[in-house]
Amino acid sequence: MIPVTRPHLPEMSRYLGYIERCYQNNQLTNNGPLVQELKARLEDYLGVQNLLPVANGTLALQIAYKVLGISRVAITTPFTFVATSSSLKWGGIEPVYADIDASSLNLSPQKAEMILDPEVTALVPVHVYGNPCNVEAFDRIAKDHGLKVIYDAAHAFGVRLNGKSVLQWGDAATLSFHATKVFHTVEGGAIVFKKREDYERACRLINFGYEEGEVADEGINAKMSEFHAAMGLCMLDEIDSVLQEREEIYKRYYEALKDHFEIPVWKEGATRNYAYFPVLFPSEDALLKTQQRLNDAGIFPRRYFYPSLDALNGYARPDKGNPISRSRADRVLCLPLYSALPLEVQDKIIEITVSSQKLYARTPSEFSMMSLTGG
Ligand SMILES: Cc1ncc(COP(=O)(O)O)c(C=O)c1O
Repeated sequence: MIPVTRPHLPEMSRYLGYIERCYQNNQLTNNGPLVQELKARLEDYLGVQNLLPVANGTLALQIAYKVLGISRVAITTPFTFVATSSSLKWGGIEPVYADIDASSLNLSPQKAEMILDPEVTALVPVHVYGNPCNVEAFDRIAKDHGLKVIYDAAHAFGVRLNGKSVLQWGDAATLSFHATKVFHTVEGGAIVFKKREDYERACRLINFGYEEGEVADEGINAKMSEFHAAMGLCMLDEIDSVLQEREEIYKRYYEALKDHFEIPVWKEGATRNYAYFPVLFPSEDALLKTQQRLNDAGIFPRRYFYPSLDALNGYARPDKGNPISRSRADRVLCLPLYSALPLEVQDKIIEITVSSQKLYARTPSEFSMMSLTGG
């Protein structure tokens, strides 16, 4: 079975070396030496400051909202994994959706600005597939309207924009280190804060609100354990080769598919981490038929991100629909991409996908009309 992704497992002897240190230290959690080392190495590797490792990417979002005092309503994207919105709801914040940009598939700043009202306290855009949002526009909107910006950067590990980490944008940016991600700690995540004082408050919040042995704040438990940090340290040791292997696979897909499929347009000046390979089909019917042919061959791509969250019960205001997000979510399929994907399997995926496109596609002129109209 060929899944959409497979976690990278580092050399076991390397992992055991770090685990041995946990045994020697006899400290398993509570900001131990491995978590501290991981924090320092991640800040150095990513080129950021005020990075706080946490237990997962969902808690990373929730802690960021809490630290930044987000309440009432946040404008966010319907084209993402459900955690971006469910984390808001858990914090008592209503997610309100603005539509996405048809070519990048990221939240549209213009559409977000159009639906601002006095209830809105924050913008929560997502760098979908690791593709940076229009951060300059969100920055301007936030300044003009006194809003906080929290970027869900779950997919954007290591991505740089104009030579700097994309995580430097916003009041906070959150990462997921889930096993399916390019860089992982099995389960885990991190928050990068712009301001030192926000980072310091978050350090208390993830540890039940404790400061110097006293409960000083309304906290929760979102700490990363030493065993999870051990996996992160191994992954960092191997990250360059992981990214290189992913890049090769990504580029083979791109060369083979770019003339047959619409592929999301990448932000100018941004690097890639080759986390996903999404393709847009001309219709949901063509997608489903191709998916079936791939499944019949034992290949299981995933419909990331489907459905558009505004189509989920209880997630959108009844009068609000986001037609571009819905149409994109109905037609997007992520092809298998992981460092150990055998080339002959990739060739098979390409062959089935391209031949299906020829069988089920509309004419190229219909295809480009749809791109222009965002249909
Ligand atoms: C966009 C996005 N946000 C948040 C999350 C949640 O991260 P985690 O699974 O680490 O809680 C994910 C997870 O895949 C995600 O894709």
